Amino acid sequence: MSSVFDVPPALDLRSPERPSVFDHMFTVGSGRFVRPDGRTEQLDVDQWAGDPDLADRRLFLDSCTGPTLDVGCGPGRLVADLARRLPALGIDESREAVRQARSRGAAALRLDVFDPVPGAGQWDHVLLADGNIGIGGDPVRLLGRVRDLLSPGGNVLAEVSPRGIGIIRDERRLWVDGRYSSPFAWAVVGLDAIEMVAGDAGFEVGSIRSVAGRHVASLQVA
Ligand SMILES: C[S@@+](CC[C@H](N)C(=O)[O-])C[C@H]1O[C@@H](n2cnc3c(N)ncnc32)[C@H](O)[C@@H]1O
Repeated sequence: MSSVFDVPPALDLRSPERPSVFDHMFTVGSGRFVRPDGRTEQLDVDQWAGDPDLADRRLFLDSCTGPTLDVGCGPGRLVADLARRLPALGIDESREAVRQARSRGAAALRLDVFDPVPGAGQWDHVLLADGNIGIGGDPVRLLGRVRDLLSPGGNVLAEVSPRGIGIIRDERRLWVDGRYSSPFAWAVVGLDAIEMVAGDAGFEVGSIRSVAGRHVASLQVA
C-alpha cells in the first residue's frame, strides 16, 4: 500500500524518493478524483491501461510524425504504440505507471515534468493526454515548461474539457480502494478557455479536433 495515502498535505510529491499519489491507483486499476466540494469523477484507469482506441488514434497518434514526448504517460498506451514507428518517450512521476509502461515495451522514465527531461528542445510533439494539461494546477506554467521541451516548429497536443468549463484550478484527492490520497493541485481547462491559456503561455491554437466527446487542441509557439 502506498504511503502517500493518508499522509499530511505538505508532502512534496516531486521528491524522487517519495511515491506519487497515482501509484496506488495504477496498482489497483481504478480511482476517482475528489473535488474540494466532495463531488467525484471516475477516472478512466481501465482505458489508460488498455490499448489505444479510435479516438486516441485520431486525436493523438495519427498526428505524430516525429519525436514525441508523452507527459504523464500513465501505463503507456500512447507511447508504446508510437514507439513502433517513432522515437517516443513517456515521463511520469508515478513509479507504478512507469513500470507498466515499460512492461508494454515503451521507453518511460520516472520524472516530474518540471525536472530536467532528456531531449529538451528536440521533441516535435508533446502530448498532454487525458486532461494532463491539469498537471500541477497551473496550465500556463505547465505550458511554459512544455515550451522548453519542444523542437522549433513543434506542437503540443493538449486534451481539454468541453466548452463551458472555463478554467478550474483546485486541490484534488484521489479516492482509491476506499482511501483518500493527500491533496494535490490540479486544473481543468475547457474548450472555451484554451485560447486564453495558450496565449498566456506564448502559444497559439492551430486546430481543435473532437472525436467521441473528447477534444484536443494543437498548440504552436506564437
Ligand atoms: C489523469 S492521469 C493521465 C493518464 C495517462 N495519460 C495515461 O495514458 O494513462 C495523470 C498522469 O499524470 C501523472 N503526473 C501527475 N503529475 C505529474 C508531474 N508533475 N510530472 C509527470 N507526471 C505527472 C500521473 O502520475 C498520472 O499518470
